Amino acid sequence: MNPPATEFVFVLTNPGSEKPLKNEMSALRPDWRPAYQRRGFVTFKAGAAVSFAALDAPAACARRLCLSLGKMATRDEAVRLIDEALGFCPKSIVHHARYHDRKMKGVSGGGIMKLPELGQFIGTVVELRSNEFWAGLHRHLPHLSPDSAGDAGCVMPPESPSRAWLKLEEAIRFFGLKFSASDIVVELGCAPGGVALALLERGISVIGVDPADMAAVVRSSTIEDRGEATDGRPWFWHCRKPAALVSKRDLGHGVTWFMSDMNQTPEVVLAECARFCRMAPTIRSVLITLKLTDLGQVAEKAQWLDKLSAMGFTTARLQQFSVHHKEFALLAFK
Ligand SMILES: C[S@@+](CC[C@H](N)C(=O)[O-])C[C@H]1O[C@@H](n2cnc3c(N)ncnc32)[C@H](O)[C@@H]1O
Repeated sequence: MNPPATEFVFVLTNPGSEKPLKNEMSALRPDWRPAYQRRGFVTFKAGAAVSFAALDAPAACARRLCLSLGKMATRDEAVRLIDEALGFCPKSIVHHARYHDRKMKGVSGGGIMKLPELGQFIGTVVELRSNEFWAGLHRHLPHLSPDSAGDAGCVMPPESPSRAWLKLEEAIRFFGLKFSASDIVVELGCAPGGVALALLERGISVIGVDPADMAAVVRSSTIEDRGEATDGRPWFWHCRKPAALVSKRDLGHGVTWFMSDMNQTPEVVLAECARFCRMAPTIRSVLITLKLTDLGQVAEKAQWLDKLSAMGFTTARLQQFSVHHKEFALLAFK
């Protein structure tokens, strides 16, 4: 399909992330100029027609980039414009997004949406106010969220001891993460256990590192000694110490994932990540929730990605999710 001839792009972001998003875009696409902005929504003017390929900009603050078809007064007009643009693509789909309750939300119509196919064209209708709708287009690619507005709309189960459950589930959906029953995750900053619970429910064993107490719902899967770990049933082992005191012996054999949710600086977390990867060379994948004091720190992302590259990770991505506040997910694979 030929892209519609538009010089405009819109980007959906977390409300509050507009400024760091614009800074990221000025480095990634220096010829794009910010044009119009509302909470969670920024448009850019490129100066020439934009291709679908140009939307492939790894901006951590961007949950969705679309070629903009413009502003309309009603949803029906926006859908009609998308249908006209995608008319001869029978497999195209339309996503809906809405600024509501101070959040830029995906509207899934209840429940998790079906995964789009790779290469599929997707229209997005964004409702900013009752009479302000925007229509946009993008193409689904492997590293893009499959969901409207990059928002899976996961609902935390009542038994989860923390919102960290949501952050892990969003990461799984956003990045399309795959786990196997033979995976062992070491998670730094595991208490009270939202992430551990989500992993155990998926059949994955966890070594949780944290001096703080775990919730009862996780304690029921706990083994008393790392040596008790067996195949067959997912287990949780609480390594009850600060990350800096964890030894190779604590980790044992077979750790495949490094995760961290510690409330520590990116420098501390990445230094621990490097140390854990040296202690457990079987680690192939990393998922870190980086906690920032100021969203402007995202300007340091090149340093974080360089550190992962120095550890031997070949693919790395920084991404803010709808469930994040001053946080970003840092994903890396060997
Ligand atoms: C946001 S909470 C983690 C939530 C947790 N991931 C969950 O799933 O419920 C941050 C945790 O990091 C832990 N933490 C902070 N510094 C740490 C360190 N140096 N080593 C281990 N844990 C640490 C704190 O004790 C706290 O429990």
